[in-house]
Amino acid sequence: MTSHTLHLRQLATATRGPVGRAFTALVLSATVVLIGLWAGNALAADHATAPAAKAWTPASLRGALADLPQGNAERGRVVNQQLFCASCHGDTGVAPTQNWPHLAGQKAAYTAKMMLDYQSRLRSENKGAALMHDIAVMMTPQQIADVSAFYAMQPAPRDDGTPRPVGQGKGQTAEQLVRKGDPSRLLTPCASCHGVKGQGGKLEASALAGQNPLYFTRTLLHYQSGARANDAAKGMSAFAKKLTRSEIDALATYYADLPAGNATP
Ligand code: HEC
Ligand code: HEC
Repeated sequence: MTSHTLHLRQLATATRGPVGRAFTALVLSATVVLIGLWAGNALAADHATAPAAKAWTPASLRGALADLPQGNAERGRVVNQQLFCASCHGDTGVAPTQNWPHLAGQKAAYTAKMMLDYQSRLRSENKGAALMHDIAVMMTPQQIADVSAFYAMQPAPRDDGTPRPVGQGKGQTAEQLVRKGDPSRLLTPCASCHGVKGQGGKLEASALAGQNPLYFTRTLLHYQSGARANDAAKGMSAFAKKLTRSEIDALATYYADLPAGNATP
């Protein structure tokens, strides 16, 4: 398109005088129309051929994460500021509001997966996810890798000042669920995937230590209802469905107050 336009312009300037100027104007306006049409078509085509968000298989997820460039935490600090992540998630990934997720101490693979899931709308459970979609589609793979590396280097939040959920006590205690699970419900211990200190486990198994309990509860309820359905093997959805509301509240408090371990990036 660019070289084509250049060619027409050269042709126009080669013809001098009023005819030449009229010709130039004509060529330029035709070019504008053409660019408009081209852009319009490209957008329409994009829309028509945009692949429906495809569920991950363990292999496709491993591949997508391996395809990301190496992240750099120092560049990630700049991305966090320049793309305004900091205004909602904080300068070091500790969200200043009592409602939004903390990203400090989060595993890089988990953050990167979320950005890919928001991009493809595989994760689309609420307005926050729609907002994150609009932000994620503007990011390059390098920016995703860098900002993910940055959060992984930050210490997990300790006491974020968020009120802890009330109405706990019934059912299994949080610590039992975390460390032993509940064999009678085929409930695997949370720690087997999320680490004994909530520091995160293999691949995208997220860090949970210090997470905002309001967000923690909300997202488990989203897994439960099926609104959040981006987990690769549908493991978290299956576990969440087995938990009672009071167990979710107890787990939210447990993890929010867990002395932070270090994330395994
Ligand atoms: C205007 C506020 C806002 C901005 C700016 C913003 N976010 Fe978010 N972010 C949110 C909200 C809201 C959610 C979803 C909370 C929910 O699900 O309830 C979210 C969720 C996330 C999550 C998922 C957290 C988890 O534990 O699963 C990640 C990762 C994330 N954002 C990264 C980023 C990055 C990186 C940037 C900058 C490029 C950014 N956000 C910019 C508000 C924001
Ligand atoms: C078999 C492994 C496994 C077990 C056991 C497990 N999880 Fe998860 N969990 C994951 C993975 C993997 C993810 C990331 C899923 C995704 O991509 O959305 C996750 C995500 C989560 C999230 C969302 C994190 C965020 O920042 O949004 C919460 C909360 C959570 N798990 C809590 C728990 C609790 C509580 C338990 C125990 C009752 C538990 N998990 C047991 C593997 C597991």
